[in-house]
Order: sequence, then structure tokens, then C-alpha cells
Amino acid sequence: MPIEFSERLKTLPPYLFKELDRVRDEVRARGVDVIDLGVGDPDRPTPVHIIEALKKAAADPANHQYPVYSGMNSFLEVVADWYRRRHGVELTAKTEVCSLIGSKEGLAQFPLAFINPGDITLAPEPAYPVYRSGTLFAGGITHFMPLLEKNGFLPDYKAVPEDILKKTKLLWVNYPNNPTGAYADLDFYKELVDFALKRNIIVASDAAYSEVTWSGKPHPSILEVPGAKQIAVEFHSLSKTYNMTGWRIGWAAGCPELIRGLGLVKSNVDSGVFQAVQYAAMEALNGPQDSVKETGELYKERRAIIVDGLEAAGLFVFPTEYTFYVWFKVPKGLKSADFASRVLNESGVVVTPGNGFGPSGEGWARLALVQEEVRLKEAALRLSKLKF
Ligand SMILES: Cc1ncc(COP(=O)(O)O)c(C=O)c1O
Repeated sequence: MPIEFSERLKTLPPYLFKELDRVRDEVRARGVDVIDLGVGDPDRPTPVHIIEALKKAAADPANHQYPVYSGMNSFLEVVADWYRRRHGVELTAKTEVCSLIGSKEGLAQFPLAFINPGDITLAPEPAYPVYRSGTLFAGGITHFMPLLEKNGFLPDYKAVPEDILKKTKLLWVNYPNNPTGAYADLDFYKELVDFALKRNIIVASDAAYSEVTWSGKPHPSILEVPGAKQIAVEFHSLSKTYNMTGWRIGWAAGCPELIRGLGLVKSNVDSGVFQAVQYAAMEALNGPQDSVKETGELYKERRAIIVDGLEAAGLFVFPTEYTFYVWFKVPKGLKSADFASRVLNESGVVVTPGNGFGPSGEGWARLALVQEEVRLKEAALRLSKLKF
């Protein structure tokens, strides 16, 4: 029987990294020692005390049944306490926080709760692709806001044409930013909340990297802005803060009606997060935070190694003290994809072409600092020898 994919799947944009993956496998098959700095998945293990909490909770039969869909009360309270300590924000745990099976899950489902066919969402580009696919699955239309170097990679949402704004229901932002490493200050969020309240636009702020920094300046939350809880929701994750990408836990917090809508979608699709993982997450958020600081320092050192190599090759690197991404310009006259495949072919280092995250990423490339120092030194040496 011929099997046809839904229109929704057919309209998904092609997987831009496919060609790069193919070349990587080909280069590897030639016997080249490939150093993969493509995917943003931390290489370091989850701290031991968090693993111990999981082990203990996994052994308790009380945790073997379906969890409460929106998260255990104790987990929601721990998240609310975290906001109080970290951001000075008061949240009512039961109505203003919801557990997620990793923030990706929440980002992808969120539009299903609020977007009708034909509604517009504003999304940055270059960006994490889920804002676009989530909108598309809900039947919405994404209008892209280019992130440009001259604006510090912040979106110029005020430049969106009036006819688009009229149909806009939801706006996505993501700081600290993947792929650029850019960050936003509280004034940015204040202006955004003000704009969104005036225009009746929901704001979804993806803060997955808020704790990945060595700047000494904690990244603000949109929820710190007075009035934000009327229109904004923040998506958060334990993945990058505690090296827990495989554990699949995060949360959404903010406007109670937005949390309620997301929860309604989720209760029809999934059955919550394994309670043992929630206990481990509580230990992560309440336990010693030394590892968070150490992780930031580690990325600082790793970044210095790679930046030296890129600068020796004559390439401009966008400065930042957030995230584990290095966003840099490809040599003049080269397309990002051609640059990435030349780097791979000539040095065995996998870098991601910036246009894979959206057209405004053309002319840029991204590296993820997710390999040990010795491998990064080797990558930096190989990159420094490249001639363009
Ligand atoms: C910007 C951004 N948001 C969200 C996520 C999803 O993270 P998780 O689902 O592991 O919480 C990622 C993962 O790479 C990301 O880069």
C-alpha cells in the first residue's frame, strides 16, 4: 500500500544538516579522526549527587506508577523556590508551573494550545528549529524576525509590518541564544512585555541556557518584569545546567492561563515525567550548585582554546560569556555550507553552517564546546592551519 505522509510533515523544511552528516560519515570512512563540534549536547556527566537521588527514587515502588501529569507538587514547589532565590519572582507552584519532558516537548506543544490555522507567530531566525515546527504542526504561520549582528542578535519586533502584527498571536524569544550566544538584559524584556501587553501577543521565552555562563552576571528572566505574568511563559530546562540532556526534564512557568492551556494539551498527549527523575531534578535545583559554576568555567576555558584557533585562521568570533556555542564569521566570499564542508574535508572538524538555523545565519558558522580540552586543542590547531 502506498503510504503518504501528512501535509503537515510534508511542509516541514528539509533537514539542512543532512548533507553535512553524509560528508562527515564519508570523511570518517576515509579513516580521518573526525572531531564533531556540531551538536549541542554536553559531554560531561551529570553530577553524582543527582544520580544518587535518581537511584534512591527509582528503587521506591511509590514512584513506579503514572505521575501527576503537570508535575509532583513537591517538584513544582522546588521550581517556585528556585525562581524566588534566583530571580526574586513569586510563583504559585500549582497554577504557574508545569513540568515538561524536557523543554523541547513544551516548546513544540505550546502552539497547539493557542494557535489556530492562519494565526501568525513571530520567531527569530537563526534559531532552534522547534519554534517553527511547533507553529506549523498547529496550523500556524511563522513570520521570521532576523537576528542581526548590528542589533546584537536581538529581534527588531517593532519592525514587523502592521498587517502581520494584527494576525500575530505568539512571539518567541530565546536568550541566552542558540546559535549566536547573544544575551538579553532586563530592559530588553521590559520593552518586550510592554509591547506584548499593548498588542495582545503571548510571549514564549526559551531560557534553556540561562545558567550556562561564566560572566558573573546572572541572566535575567522575563518573569522579573512586572506584568509579565499576564502574557508570558518561560520555558526552562535542566539539560544544559546540570548535563542532563538524556534525562528529559524541564518546566514551563509564568502566566497561569498559558500554563493551563499547555497542561490541557499535555494531558492528552503524555503522562508526565517519571517521578524518580523529578526527585533527581529537585536534588539538582536544591542541592549544591558548585557544578553549575564549574561548568561555566569549563566552557570559558574551552572557548578560549577554540577562539585562538579561529582567530589564527583570520576569522571573527562573536564575543559572549553565555552558552557553550561559538558563533563566528566564515571567510568572505564563502557560503556557510561550503565553508563547513571544506573545514570538514580539510581538517576533519565538524562545524554547523549558520544558514542551517535560518537564512540570516548565512555567512556564519557555529561550534559547540562539547569535547574534552585535548580534542579542542587538536581542533583549534587544525582550524588555525586552514587557508582560505
Ligand atoms: C534553544 C534551545 N531550547 C531548548 C532546547 C531543548 O532542550 P531540552 O529539551 O533538553 O530541555 C535546546 C536544545 O538544544 C535549545 O538549544
